[in-house]
Amino acid sequence: MSKLAKFPEGFLWGGAVAANQLEGNFQADGKGLSTADVSPNGIMSPPDYSMKDYNLYHEGIDFYNTYKEDIALFAEMGFKAFRFSIAWTRIFPNGDELHPNEKGLAFYENVIDELLKNDIEPVITISHYEMPLHLVREYGGWKNRTLVEFYERYAKTLFERYHEKVKYWMTFNEINVLLHAPFTGGGLVFEDGNKNEQDIYQAAHHQFLGSALAVKAGHEINPDLQIGCMIASMITYPYTSKPEDMFAATQQDRKTLFFSDVQSRGYYPSYMKNYWIENGIEIEIEDGDLEILREHTVDYIGFSYYMSFVASTDPEHMKQQASGNLLAGIKNPYLKASEWGWQIDPVGLRTVCNQLYDRYEKPLFIVENGLGAVDNVEEDGTIQDDYRIDYLRAHIAEMKKAIGDGVDLIGYTSWGPIDLVSASTAELKKRYGFIYVDRDSEGKGSNKRLKKKSFDWYKNVIGSNGEKL
Ligand code: BG6
Repeated sequence: MSKLAKFPEGFLWGGAVAANQLEGNFQADGKGLSTADVSPNGIMSPPDYSMKDYNLYHEGIDFYNTYKEDIALFAEMGFKAFRFSIAWTRIFPNGDELHPNEKGLAFYENVIDELLKNDIEPVITISHYEMPLHLVREYGGWKNRTLVEFYERYAKTLFERYHEKVKYWMTFNEINVLLHAPFTGGGLVFEDGNKNEQDIYQAAHHQFLGSALAVKAGHEINPDLQIGCMIASMITYPYTSKPEDMFAATQQDRKTLFFSDVQSRGYYPSYMKNYWIENGIEIEIEDGDLEILREHTVDYIGFSYYMSFVASTDPEHMKQQASGNLLAGIKNPYLKASEWGWQIDPVGLRTVCNQLYDRYEKPLFIVENGLGAVDNVEEDGTIQDDYRIDYLRAHIAEMKKAIGDGVDLIGYTSWGPIDLVSASTAELKKRYGFIYVDRDSEGKGSNKRLKKKSFDWYKNVIGSNGEKL
């Protein structure tokens, strides 16, 4: 390994969560209903406004009440950073109010203070897989330009309140989710079930504007703030060395990179402008919009990485399907998969880091990565999750190599350091944590927290700044 492959001093080791997947208490202290509150089957399934079915998100793991003891456990592992999201509906219950809900603001202030007390840097995602349901039903979601104003007000409110305590921010979690799960990503409902690309890309334009205006506001309020984008990275390999397969991979990658291209470079790439023309998509762009995008680009690139993808032009290859959180892809014959069929590819993480850094030359922050697996509590109360340790060890080793390649990597927050409700399948059977939560997919259990074997392992990784893997 290169002698330059070393984690820098101050590297932000930690974990990442999302409000709707762990807080529970979905109607406490004035919180409004969000899109997650009507998605009992996860982000890939249609919403159910009747709310008849049991919804695990409503209870989460009760982090709303247990945050102090949970943060104490993160501190015991030596976390340097904790990424969490703010539920928009705790701050603006309907999304279109002029004044925020003080109880919601106070809750997150308490979380932030608890983190700072434990020397943990708070990292905030402004919108993670949820938005006020009212904005969907009354305004039609993000295809409506009015949402830009509501989002800007919401983001400003957060910056004004927390800017002295929180330096790192992200505007939208996995903003490219809009293409794959438009209800979760943009509050878009398609009655006939067919995704309408016109609406999706119009919504994307509005989110880009909202994000750029948030960057503007954040920097005006405090120039020290670091505000990033966040994409679900989906690096694609050609199935064979056939040139057509290579081009198919390039095309597939562009669907993801489009989002970071606009947010980081500040303009619409020509490949997408041509795609819109070819497909009869006409985006309404008002005077001044393009200047806003150009002038307020992000400070760093945040991304999640769970797996890689494969593209092929051969229908036979396309039949061999693998699954994933947002996209099902073609099976890669060189990779093993998780119990949920997600293909495990640590080297892909090194490649993604290089790809993104070559493209943008901005600091990178890996804000999600991890293995969703079934854990068993042994009779003696231990949880031997060696499979999770193996997964994380292999990925961290590749991150280190990427640093040796010259990539400026500022942090790593693994997904779900404490078990939480999964996003794609809305279950608790699939666990990511170093901390086990005694609660099952039916919501039964004591909610007690138990340390898994990976708890001490990660503590050592952080304690040695990534030297002891
Ligand atoms: C990412 C999301 O796509 O993947 C998280 O940002 C999500 O919210 C994570 O939980 C893992 O996916 P899942 O479906 O296993 O929870």
